[in-house]
Amino acid sequence: MKLTFKLSLAALALAALGSGSAWADSKAAMHSIGRDATAAEVKAWDIDVRPDFKGLPKGAGSVSMGETVWEEKCASCHGSFGESNEVFTPLIGGTTKADIQRGRVKNLEEGSTFPQKTTIMKVATVSTLWDYINRAMPWNAPKSLTTDEVYGVVAYLLSLAEVVPTDHVLSDQNIAEAQKRMPNRNGMVFYEPMWKTNGKGDVKNVACMKNCATEVKITSFLPDYAKSAQGNTAEQNRVIGPVRGVDTSKPAGK
Ligand code: HEC
Repeated sequence: MKLTFKLSLAALALAALGSGSAWADSKAAMHSIGRDATAAEVKAWDIDVRPDFKGLPKGAGSVSMGETVWEEKCASCHGSFGESNEVFTPLIGGTTKADIQRGRVKNLEEGSTFPQKTTIMKVATVSTLWDYINRAMPWNAPKSLTTDEVYGVVAYLLSLAEVVPTDHVLSDQNIAEAQKRMPNRNGMVFYEPMWKTNGKGDVKNVACMKNCATEVKITSFLPDYAKSAQGNTAEQNRVIGPVRGVDTSKPAGK
């Protein structure tokens, strides 16, 4: 990842206010605004972990250590077994041993009556789980886990889904093995027409250049049967501001 930060907004504002001639050779001037990000600053932002595990820091965490962290820092929102749907859809559930074999999740297929799509049903790459937790969780204190704790909670979640055994220690050395058992690892499809646009947008609409308002009419109306459900809205609306209530005591169109 290559980043250049231009840090000094104040300097930018001053340059904009400055004399015309200074702005005229702005090319030279712009180069003196701000500074390149330092290696340490770039490093602090450069935390993404790729599916091929590039960017994954070295470390390790056991299922049981992860369970302890989970109970302390995650279970209140996601449930002890990642099953809660109170703040988010459940993280774990809905996958089977057969899915792990096949790399496709049966409950995602048409005709499934499984009520929700859990995270483990959908996620194809274990790196995504690792990266997301590392950068965003716990929700109330992102980036507060140590690297080993991230390995631990990922191990714990994978053990709940029977991707790894309960005595497992997940590490940078063996995470590729866990990837080979992700239930939906073969569930990502590449839809070629979305990318093959031959340099053109894939939108087929013809641009409207004149009398466009006559072509598109956006309206909204209350059907008669619902008109007086809330009384007369004209009498209930604010008198200040652009919104006036429609008189719903009269039939439609009157
Ligand atoms: C304060 C509540 C809270 C806590 C504590 C919390 N989470 Fe979350 N978690 C959320 C919310 C809310 C989302 C959805 C966020 C979003 O989509 O923007 C989420 C999303 C996730 C997801 C992504 C699910 C998906 O399918 O996108 C994972 C994985 C996850 N949390 C793991 C953890 C782990 C591990 C911990 C503990 C280290 C943790 N969470 C602690 C609230 C919490």
